[in-house]
Amino acid sequence: MPLDNLPPISTADATYSQFAPIYDLYKSVDDYGRAAELILEIAALDGCRPVDVLDAATGTGNLAEQFARHGMSVWAFDYCDEMLDVARKKPSLSRATIFNADMRHLPIFAESFDLVTCWNDSMNYLLTLHDFRQAIQGFYARMRSGAVLVFDLNTLNTYRAIAEGAVVYETAAGSFTLRPKYNEIQAGRLFQYTLGQEYGTGMWRGDTEHNSIHTQRHYRVSEVTRVLKDAGFTRVQKRGIRSRNLFRADGEQDFRKIVYSALRLP
Ligand SMILES: C[S@@+](CC[C@H](N)C(=O)[O-])C[C@H]1O[C@@H](n2cnc3c(N)ncnc32)[C@H](O)[C@@H]1O
Repeated sequence: MPLDNLPPISTADATYSQFAPIYDLYKSVDDYGRAAELILEIAALDGCRPVDVLDAATGTGNLAEQFARHGMSVWAFDYCDEMLDVARKKPSLSRATIFNADMRHLPIFAESFDLVTCWNDSMNYLLTLHDFRQAIQGFYARMRSGAVLVFDLNTLNTYRAIAEGAVVYETAAGSFTLRPKYNEIQAGRLFQYTLGQEYGTGMWRGDTEHNSIHTQRHYRVSEVTRVLKDAGFTRVQKRGIRSRNLFRADGEQDFRKIVYSALRLP
């Protein structure tokens, strides 16, 4: 039976409650400093030099930390308290506004922003196009004229690589392997994988190994573009990301992730 016909087996909230204590070890191979640089370059291409940033689905706040280091005023939210607990302990985020919210139902707040980010395929955890649309509309409503939205999404290549058993991250806390749980790979459909910490070393020796289930939806370039334009965004751009650099992307075929940007005017 196609996974789309089943109720989601795990929500991202439950997945990340479990994952939170070791998330930063898993991500220790990621370069968030470089990600922030790329995002700020993209914003600058649209004439945006952000001061107030909203980092949606911030997780443990790794990207938000980079913006704080750039001297920006940072608001950051996630709907997983365990992830936010890790973010709140980070000294560089001591002045940031960190709160629990679901990006599908953002609360009304007085603040508006000139940069909104949603990084590391967080939007793939929105399992319906309706949820995706709600999130995009919510971001738009909280942006000033001239503000830029930047987010990334997994391509089908990512799911294919997982299905082939090829995605392994070697970190100081052992290796993390992404394995397919549901194998049919189709554009615009759900994909499920398990993320397992294969073995522990050092401080992790003897700990129970981690294993979480991740359910994501693939979004077609055409769907994303349509939702952004319907919400009112202009200058919708897509770029492929590879080896810490951005490339022109006509489609998603050559990349594992596509970075989207969109401008709010007026
Ligand atoms: C892969 S992590 C990325 C975290 C962070 N952006 C980063 O770059 O490290 C995905 C995050 O999305 C959050 N998330 C998923 N769906 C969400 C939703 N509807 N509202 C808020 N957060 C959500 C999860 O709780 C998790 O922290």
